[in-house]
Amino acid sequence: MKEIKLPGWDMGPVFFFDSIGSTSDYLRELALKGSRSGTVVWGRKQTEGRGRRGKKWFSPPGGLYFSVLLHSPQMIEPSFSLVAAGSVIRVLGEKTGLELKIKWPNDIYRKSSKVGGILCENFSGKLIVGIGLNIDPINSSKIDPGNSPGNLSELQAHPSEEVIGFILRELVGDFKIFQDKGFAFFLEEQKALSYLMGRAVRIDSSGGRVVNYGPRGQLILENSEGFFREIWQGTVVLLEEG
Ligand code: BTN
Repeated sequence: MKEIKLPGWDMGPVFFFDSIGSTSDYLRELALKGSRSGTVVWGRKQTEGRGRRGKKWFSPPGGLYFSVLLHSPQMIEPSFSLVAAGSVIRVLGEKTGLELKIKWPNDIYRKSSKVGGILCENFSGKLIVGIGLNIDPINSSKIDPGNSPGNLSELQAHPSEEVIGFILRELVGDFKIFQDKGFAFFLEEQKALSYLMGRAVRIDSSGGRVVNYGPRGQLILENSEGFFREIWQGTVVLLEEG
């Protein structure tokens, strides 16, 4: 492990590992020992990378895997994972021109392929935001083949330190706005970035077409009888590809 500097990032220390279990797990240990807001852990690869709902996150070298600790006196709502995905997409869009989308509630998509994910975990006034991006085309093709993995190979032309530093700064800016104004501030941008808007989906026992987001990031589904339903959590299955 070594402590490094990231361009434009001075909010907290950055710990870089050549190999680590999970950057979010390690950061949690640091947080429990009192690390300050803005502490970052970055791994070149992870051996125990985690995704949402206990899923494994395959993390070979060639991707970006990092987590940041953010202190917050108030409970951070789960919809922050959508906002964080928006921060990442804005930065990657500026760097590469790619038009990426967000598959509710935390996946980053390029066309119909998953290229990244956000894992937000809250505990005792602290939030850990873990970000994983598939970049290397060869390794990415081995990731969770059932879930159509893709890659962001264009990022290979940019120094990782710069990409991570820019994402962290964008994320912290959005975190401050989110604490102040909530998800509603990001609603229009989120609708425009949504991979699911207008599509027919099944989310656990509910089916319908995604017609809107609610002001707290919940999905609004309309079923075939014209009834609306709010969905706050679950795993989305697309019933039609776009
Ligand atoms: C998901 O798609 O469900 C979220 C994936 C989040 C992966 C990142 S990689 C950095 C951080 N450390 C982890 O163990 N997970 C997150």
